Amino acid sequence: MTNQPSPCLIVIFGASGDLTKRKLIPALYDLYVGKQLSENFAVLGVSRSELPDDQFRARLEEFAKQFAHKFDEQTWREFVGRVYYHATDSTKAEGYPGLKKRMAELATKHKTSENALLYLAMAPHLYEPTIDQISAHQMITEGKSWCSINHDNPPWQRIIVEKPFGNDLTSAGHLNRVLGRVFEEESIYRIDHYMGKETVQNLLVFRFANAIFEPLWNRNYIDHVQVTATEAVGVEGRGGYYDSPSGGSMRDMVSTHLLQVMALVAMEPPVSMRDSDIRMEKFKILSAVRQPMPDEVPDVAVRGQYGSGDMNGKQLPAYRDEPGVAPDSQTETYAAMKLFVDTWRWQGVPFYLRSGKRMAKKTTEIVVYFKSTPHCLFREEACKILNPNQIVINVQPDEGIRLRFEGKVPGPGMNIKDVVMDFDYGKQFNAKPPEAYATLLLDAIRGDQTLYKHREEIGEAWRIVQPVLDYWQEHPVDDQSSYASGSWGPPAADAMLKRDGRHWHNA
Ligand code: BG6
Repeated sequence: MTNQPSPCLIVIFGASGDLTKRKLIPALYDLYVGKQLSENFAVLGVSRSELPDDQFRARLEEFAKQFAHKFDEQTWREFVGRVYYHATDSTKAEGYPGLKKRMAELATKHKTSENALLYLAMAPHLYEPTIDQISAHQMITEGKSWCSINHDNPPWQRIIVEKPFGNDLTSAGHLNRVLGRVFEEESIYRIDHYMGKETVQNLLVFRFANAIFEPLWNRNYIDHVQVTATEAVGVEGRGGYYDSPSGGSMRDMVSTHLLQVMALVAMEPPVSMRDSDIRMEKFKILSAVRQPMPDEVPDVAVRGQYGSGDMNGKQLPAYRDEPGVAPDSQTETYAAMKLFVDTWRWQGVPFYLRSGKRMAKKTTEIVVYFKSTPHCLFREEACKILNPNQIVINVQPDEGIRLRFEGKVPGPGMNIKDVVMDFDYGKQFNAKPPEAYATLLLDAIRGDQTLYKHREEIGEAWRIVQPVLDYWQEHPVDDQSSYASGSWGPPAADAMLKRDGRHWHNA
């Protein structure tokens, strides 16, 4: 891994899709504005529709205005002058000689030294045929030249693969093998954009750059941990994708983003900040997560679908009435799961994960609930309302960390109330955190895999959720409209925690 971003040509397959317009190009533009890219870089968008460079650039501009941190006409013109488009079907051999020629021209023009970052931003069923063609046309040379530029440093080619990474353990294993036939593991970047979020990365600093939290970070002091990612929006026009075999909250959010976040909360201190050391610790935690037995699933997992509802004065449809969704769909828009990590540190401490669409508000947070004091010194009445300490890590919005503890209410008597010590990212650093995609793209260009997933992590994540997915498939339910739009999710999820004498942190 090097710290300086090297020259490179970024090739985005699936360039006419939403991800390119809304995330990738605005992120690359932000990096350009921040002078974080090498002077020698270019972007080539690849998709099937015929489009001249100018029209492609014009389409990108309206989204960059909306999604980039700071849009400036002059800087955009400089940036977009390095963005090109090439129409071809990346799953078919015919287009590759032309694509390789175009890449070689751009590599020469922009002196990108033949380094290539290939980004699969297309529908997942196109991954395998595209990877096969990339291989058949010798675009991956591992240190050798794929065109005829002379260079001092051996060139690299890396591939970023978007989620969904398969839709179950078997298909994910297959995709890993397909990638592995063509790329070394060090060149495969399996992206999870939650790992690029500033507050998620701050978990490592919070835990391992401070001495006061780590001694408490174990089963002796922690009662349980909640990881929540809720959204106020529904499927928003993505009904077709969401209602497919890759969709649903368990696959879309829990098996990916939430398990990654949980791994950072639970992992042991790595021996160094090297990417391999951090990924090894994450993998160890995922591999220690107990897999539920099929008959345990109803007790440890909850699913739900949003019903219709009124949010902010607007009447919204139920999930099954959304465009692209089957009227008898079984796809869950809410999933919650209770997990145990079988290690010395975490034995007996439940981790509750949940995610849902069309819920009361958008929030991603980690809440660490500590155990109660061993003995209460105060009046019986005061003791009844004492709350255990909590650390609330707000990933988004209102990025920050809040420590809740008990304080004395001023005045006579010993009245006790919850108080909060508040670290607010925005106020403290007076800066907006970078977009997750900007962080992750820059890491891939630098060759830093810390925030990307190893193949083994993917396998473990599927292993953990597969029994639940199988059980749900084998036990369809008639009416999944189990929570109202704008609520905190299905009553069954509240009941799951209530059975354990706990409740969700709905704040
Ligand atoms: C994506 C999911 O990975 O994450 C979407 O596919 C979800 O369904 C999105 O809306 C949420 O991301 P964020 O960054 O807005 O929390």
